[in-house]
Amino acid sequence: MVAASAASTEAPFLAACRRQPATRVPVWFMRQAGRSLPEYHRIRGEGSILQAIKQPELAAEITLQPVRRYGVDAAILYSDIVVPVHAIGLGVDIAPGVGPVVDEPIRRAADLERIRALEPDEDVPYVQETVRILARELPPEVPLIGFAGAPFTVASYLIEGRPSRDYAHTKALMWSEPATFHRLMAAIAELSLASLRAQVEAGARAVQLFDSWAGALAPDDYREHVLAHSARIFAGLADLDVPRIHFGVTTGELLPLLAEAGADVVGVDFRVPIDVAWARVGPGVAVQGNLDPVACLAPFEVTAAKARDVLARVGGRPGHIFNLGHGVLPQTDPANLERLVELVHAEGRAGTGVAS
Ligand code: CP3
Repeated sequence: MVAASAASTEAPFLAACRRQPATRVPVWFMRQAGRSLPEYHRIRGEGSILQAIKQPELAAEITLQPVRRYGVDAAILYSDIVVPVHAIGLGVDIAPGVGPVVDEPIRRAADLERIRALEPDEDVPYVQETVRILARELPPEVPLIGFAGAPFTVASYLIEGRPSRDYAHTKALMWSEPATFHRLMAAIAELSLASLRAQVEAGARAVQLFDSWAGALAPDDYREHVLAHSARIFAGLADLDVPRIHFGVTTGELLPLLAEAGADVVGVDFRVPIDVAWARVGPGVAVQGNLDPVACLAPFEVTAAKARDVLARVGGRPGHIFNLGHGVLPQTDPANLERLVELVHAEGRAGTGVAS
């Protein structure tokens, strides 16, 4: 590895988020914690993931496992986007193999009465404690990423009551009772903002807002019903001086709007080539992505060729964080991800203009 003199001494991940030259192309994987690692399954225990998240020592250890195994450049907190809505008593759980489920979905104005503000120290002290442990234990060059769900994605679970394919109830509420929908979105925005601010205060050094299912919306609907609520979260973090990442799946047509909401980094899924995506968000933001997670199931030569294509499309421009286009699939062989990290570190040119 050749470290160009222009490269920042900052953690490569943070330098890339700020579009500064870095000593290497930073890489981490969405869903790197949990899922495919055998050491995760050994310690995870039975029951809902929400129970595991409530044990700070365990949650911190699960967060650290992929850092040790893969040598990634960032850690992602072991938690979930539904933790705040679970913690304020909305009857949300995560059913193994299914995803978030809600006892009584939110479908009308009267249901909004059940939502209250999040008091992080009282409602999610375990998240705060996990972050504090990690801030102590992670090496300085591997920052912890805190995260929250964006209002639309969390609302979709609260309204549907379970994972959905077409978001029929969500769109029905959005179009038939737009004022109720806006109030719900505004309330979730405050929950996510409170959660993110608390994670940063406890030691998270970057944040990612997951709007995983925003790609279900046409751009006009995103602009009318969603954008202001996600923008409220990004604006509410502006004083904290941490990079803010905005990610969703099938967002090809929404990419400029994800940037407009106030992100420093836009996460790109695998359906749009990363150079095309970067042109859509503009040069003023960094990009994160975007290898197809299924490519990590193929023989490593295929994984490697597709990873090299991502690197070639970026062409060494500062401001790229290598990641998958969505989360690690459970059946992924960890050895392939180890080799992928090595490849990105060995072959990426992190805005130095120097091939290593
Ligand atoms: O490694 C990491 O990314 C850190 C932890 C993390 C989890 N969930 C743990 C988890 C993160 C960042 C999330 C975010 C999340 N949760 C999102 C956004 C990211 C994305 O993938 O789009 C969403 C949509 C959720 C909601 C959710 N939670 C789903 C859809 C599922 C999957 C259900 C299943 O089992 O297939 C979960 C459960 C969940 N959250 C698991 C993990 C590791 C798997 C189940 C388990 O280990 O118990």
